[in-house]
Amino acid sequence: MGTKLLGIPNIDVYLVMGILLFFIFIEVIGGYLHQTKRKSGDWIQELGSFLLLSLATKPFIVLAVLFLGNTFFPQAQYVLNGYSLWLLLPLYLFVDDLLQYWYHRSAHEYPFLWKLHRTHHQAEEMGFFVSYRNAAVYYLFMPNIWWMGLISFLGGGIAVSIGLILKQIVIIGAHSTIKWDKPFYKNKFLSPFISLIERIIITPAFHHAHHGKSKLDTVSDPNGNFGNMFSIWDQLFGTASFTRQFPKEYGLQTPVQDHWSAAYLYPFVHSKDEKSELSKSFTKSNTSSLEPIFVNLIEGENYLWCKCGKSKSQPFCDGSHHGSKIKPILFQAKRTGRSKICNCKKSKIGPFCDNTHLKF
Ligand code: FES
Repeated sequence: MGTKLLGIPNIDVYLVMGILLFFIFIEVIGGYLHQTKRKSGDWIQELGSFLLLSLATKPFIVLAVLFLGNTFFPQAQYVLNGYSLWLLLPLYLFVDDLLQYWYHRSAHEYPFLWKLHRTHHQAEEMGFFVSYRNAAVYYLFMPNIWWMGLISFLGGGIAVSIGLILKQIVIIGAHSTIKWDKPFYKNKFLSPFISLIERIIITPAFHHAHHGKSKLDTVSDPNGNFGNMFSIWDQLFGTASFTRQFPKEYGLQTPVQDHWSAAYLYPFVHSKDEKSELSKSFTKSNTSSLEPIFVNLIEGENYLWCKCGKSKSQPFCDGSHHGSKIKPILFQAKRTGRSKICNCKKSKIGPFCDNTHLKF
């Protein structure tokens, strides 16, 4: 950060700010502020998170790494000086993005990290600031910020500066309401290009699907598409879900709007809403039972079967699986009528009961 590029000190910082301002400008003239249903708490969280990350957390981590490096490994400082930018830039970006993929994925699969990341998914509309919307503590543990400090210490500062600019374009673009990829899907000449682009970098459609409410709309995949800059990690680790459409609804499957102070300052501040995972008294209890549940299904309708056993709307998913590795199962009813749905969660033909529960 703050590197001299093209003879201009701190040009990377100005460019990163410029990219954000560019997206703000386009969204504002596109009528975003008139249409937005955001409340003041949303703006406080997103702006506060952006300012804290940019002005305190990132500089603190980078300075901490420089201090530790200089104290314990002074001979390693600037060892990368003299290496080509063509080597350092991909090295910085790919390692950064791989670390961020796993951190983001872990934030969906482990309860404590999920609580720090959950506010990111409480946003019920996309927009330029959503990419910064996380609990303050979330960024302290973010491994790729530490990696940024390390590679700067080793002498890769210019690669970091250019990499940050490229990352910002992709990440803010993926969260923005400016769906730059949409024309590609509609035009048959442009379509092959987007098929290639989306296999490399994150497009708005790919990332909006991650913010969609639930898989029920057959577009969204809140438990997939974890990539930040590159989609290659999702493809490599089996979490990619490509789509040419955008979700109609964004946010958590079961909306709970915590006060911004709890969402932003958890675990130091807790939610007063007992239904919120951020409240002190909240527990996720097992709601499954040995007995199957009979429900009336409608032919052609989609249903999301709860696999984690924690939903309060058994046998269907209500989003309680977030913060675990278990995902719901999407299925379409083949006929209208009563069906015996598994609720012990052990059926081999789930969502339907195969009498496995009788063995217990
Ligand atoms: S609540 Fe979604 S899988 Fe159980």
